[in-house]
Amino acid sequence: MKTKTKPTFESAAIHGGKRNKDQYGSHTTPIYQTSTFVFDDVASGAKAFQHEEGAASHVYSRVGNPTVEELERVLCALETYHLENREGYTGMAFGSGMAAITTGIISIATGGHIIAQNDLYGCTSQFLKEEAPGMNMSVSFVDTSDVNKVEMELKKNPETKLIYLESIANPTLKISDIKAIAQLAESYGAMLMVDNTFATPYHIQPLELGADVVVHSTTKYLGGHGTLIGGAMVAKREVFEEAETFLYRKNLGGIAGPMDAWLTTNGIKTLPLRMKQHNENAMQVAQWLEDHPKVNHVFYPGLESHPQHKLASSMMRNGFGGMISFELKDGFEAGVSLMNNVELCTLAVSLGTVDTLIQHPASMTHSIVDEEIKKAAGITEGLVRLSVGLEGVEDIISDLEQAMGNF
Ligand SMILES: Cc1ncc(COP(=O)(O)O)c(C=O)c1O
Repeated sequence: MKTKTKPTFESAAIHGGKRNKDQYGSHTTPIYQTSTFVFDDVASGAKAFQHEEGAASHVYSRVGNPTVEELERVLCALETYHLENREGYTGMAFGSGMAAITTGIISIATGGHIIAQNDLYGCTSQFLKEEAPGMNMSVSFVDTSDVNKVEMELKKNPETKLIYLESIANPTLKISDIKAIAQLAESYGAMLMVDNTFATPYHIQPLELGADVVVHSTTKYLGGHGTLIGGAMVAKREVFEEAETFLYRKNLGGIAGPMDAWLTTNGIKTLPLRMKQHNENAMQVAQWLEDHPKVNHVFYPGLESHPQHKLASSMMRNGFGGMISFELKDGFEAGVSLMNNVELCTLAVSLGTVDTLIQHPASMTHSIVDEEIKKAAGITEGLVRLSVGLEGVEDIISDLEQAMGNF
């Protein structure tokens, strides 16, 4: 953009990935649905492989693709939006959130220790518990919403290479003090990697708070319409270079496909508008649930009853997001009954889509998580996770009301 002033976050979401005009003047970026790229002759092919100045910019879509790069630029623009100095940052797009998370962790932490949050998304938790140790990484789990516990764990493991947490935890909606943990990580020479899927850069910008790497499942709010699986990372280029993350992505093969990248870039254009409404609807649903006689507790960072409401208020912009968890008084059976009786809300895992999704972690996403970890993290039998959509909020509430009348 040629304007002198910094564009708004809303404009960055629409224009942040902009490229040069293509040969036909296409308005949106074409989907470069190609596996490989053509060289003029052997010499130009050789130059491209050596990354020589002036060489062809693309070789093979597992290494890089113009449609994927447009997404990488906009991701980087949004996650670095509030930084004073945005120079030197770069985005990387992946075929899934798990591809981004595992590629990031393997490239940064192999041969070292990881301190991980104890209530992470189920597959991240499973990877760290069951697979990482066999890949020459040791892992300890702590409640990162308590900074003292992180510090104690760092004292026990001063050689820690990586601290890993979710800015808003899945599914307990716990918040960790990213700024304080980033300072601790720095003083121990560890990296801090933050999964910002639930919050999105609209609400939290972990790099601004001192994190070294941000990771996303773009499948969720960034894509926004439930049409793709994707992942992303944003960090300083030198972080990825030092960890050889580009090389790991190339050789593990986790890059995003052009079609999914294009859908994600398109989704991101309405991210600020969608998040505004997700946040408004979620606040009303959370307040309604809090007064419901069949609900024990509601976990939503925007409620004063949330244990880290103060921290959330200081760390989050523009509201508190669209995710709510709540605990039903009657436990597992009530959770199952609610799932089976909703009509407007969709019974499905995943989150961040335009429609409201409901799920029961104990029987679904977190059924693979170790009982001990679940217990320590507060993932109880009656816990329900709601991704509040963009329907009329009165319709969401009346559907929950009728479905909760069945137990
Ligand atoms: C917080 C969080 N991180 C990562 C993932 C994994 O993302 P994906 O399913 O795109 O691999 C999920 C999936 O639900 C998630 O909720």
